[in-house]
Amino acid sequence: MIKKNDVIEADIVDLSHEGLGVAKLDGLVFFVENALPGEKIQMRVLKVNKKIGYGKVEERLTTSADRNEAIDVAYLRSGIADLGHLTYEAQLKFKTKQVKDSLYKIAGIKDIEVPLTLGMGQPFAYRNKAQVPVRRVNGQLETGFFRKNSHDLMPIEDFYIQHPEIDQVILVVRDLLRRFDIKPYDEQEKTGLMRNVIVRRGHYSGEIMVIFVTTRPKIFRIEQLIELLVDQFPQVSSIMQNINDRDTNVIFGPEFRLLYGKDCITDQMLGNYFEISAPSFYQVNTEMAEQLYQTAIDFADVTQDDTVVDAYSGIGTIGLSFAKHVKKVYGVEVVPQAVENSQRNANLNGISNAHYVCDTAEKAMAKWVQEGIQATVILVDPPRKGLTESFIKASCQMNPDKIVYVSCNVATLARDVKHYEELGYKLSRIQPVDLFPQTHHVEAVSLLVKERSDDE
Ligand SMILES: C[S@@+](CC[C@H](N)C(=O)[O-])C[C@H]1O[C@@H](n2cnc3c(N)ncnc32)[C@H](O)[C@@H]1O
Repeated sequence: MIKKNDVIEADIVDLSHEGLGVAKLDGLVFFVENALPGEKIQMRVLKVNKKIGYGKVEERLTTSADRNEAIDVAYLRSGIADLGHLTYEAQLKFKTKQVKDSLYKIAGIKDIEVPLTLGMGQPFAYRNKAQVPVRRVNGQLETGFFRKNSHDLMPIEDFYIQHPEIDQVILVVRDLLRRFDIKPYDEQEKTGLMRNVIVRRGHYSGEIMVIFVTTRPKIFRIEQLIELLVDQFPQVSSIMQNINDRDTNVIFGPEFRLLYGKDCITDQMLGNYFEISAPSFYQVNTEMAEQLYQTAIDFADVTQDDTVVDAYSGIGTIGLSFAKHVKKVYGVEVVPQAVENSQRNANLNGISNAHYVCDTAEKAMAKWVQEGIQATVILVDPPRKGLTESFIKASCQMNPDKIVYVSCNVATLARDVKHYEELGYKLSRIQPVDLFPQTHHVEAVSLLVKERSDDE
């Protein structure tokens, strides 16, 4: 019987959806970090229970042709780049397979072509946003990344997948926080002031927003700190504070304050301008998000006769990209500041046929059905947990011709597609798009089409 601390030879036969190597031994499935299919390893057993176990590579005996040897393993451990040990070509194939496997295992769909994941030319330094915890490590304030599945801060200066200017801003902020003797948050003791620093950078505009997340409102000598920061980075056009005194992993508390400049930054996507405020969602990889939206536009194949619902609309990026090609857009989003952004963004781009409401997508959809609004195309872009049953039902009651589903979680996508297929919609196209190179995260656009009988 295999037990903890045994060292055994193992063949890696697959990759889990989180990018861990999979080995099958003695009727058990083992998950191993930094091990690729085709590799033979000496594995130390870290943990084992009835069906599954976790192992660690003691020695790699053979090496996969798909291995990227250039990656620093710290990026794998931190989760910053948990697929970074795989060549980029192999990452794209892995993501395509994830989509195929989920559709088959969860929705029973196998008669659909899943094209290769659309990838980036330069799949590094793409993130336009960093969320960095601030903690004390060995007596010193540090910024970095939590080790995977923990809250141990690993100090990091080069974040590899973030825009380098964001890394530079974080380092200067870190040095200023040290210089002004600002106390980092201590999760155990529930003491200290500075919990997180968030930096957002417009991909086209280069405008930067910095958000300090603190446990209390007062930040000693913040005016001087801001002066020094803006001196070094004149492109910082917005500095916000968020106050979060709760014992929680959720980064933001309810209260935002403006410390410097404007309360939003502006960027561009597919030629439209967008204002982005601190609590609003904005896709972190602008270049690939444009490809994602373009794929959604191509799938929807709209005309000026179409009415579109943009559900889970954020700051309106997808719906407003459609607005000029259709009769009307109705959008719904639950974060009030994002809804304000979407309304202003419509004006900013001279769009008068888009109407956004602040509500849950479920409630708004039910209301629109009652009011007799009939969308021909429904776009959905929900968070990882996917759609609710009530949303799916209400969206079918609206009887659209097409549903375009943008998803960041293939498991919930497959579950929801199955549900839609039961209600008369057929998955007709799907295209994975790599929004998160070097990580295991998969994004995909799907087109579901209403199956109508001849007399409809
Ligand atoms: C994946 S983001 C997509 C945003 C936007 N479509 C984009 O591409 O930038 C999901 C959005 O859904 C919003 N959201 C989460 N739950 C919601 C709900 N129940 N009803 C409406 N919006 C919700 C989030 O605030 C977030 O803005």
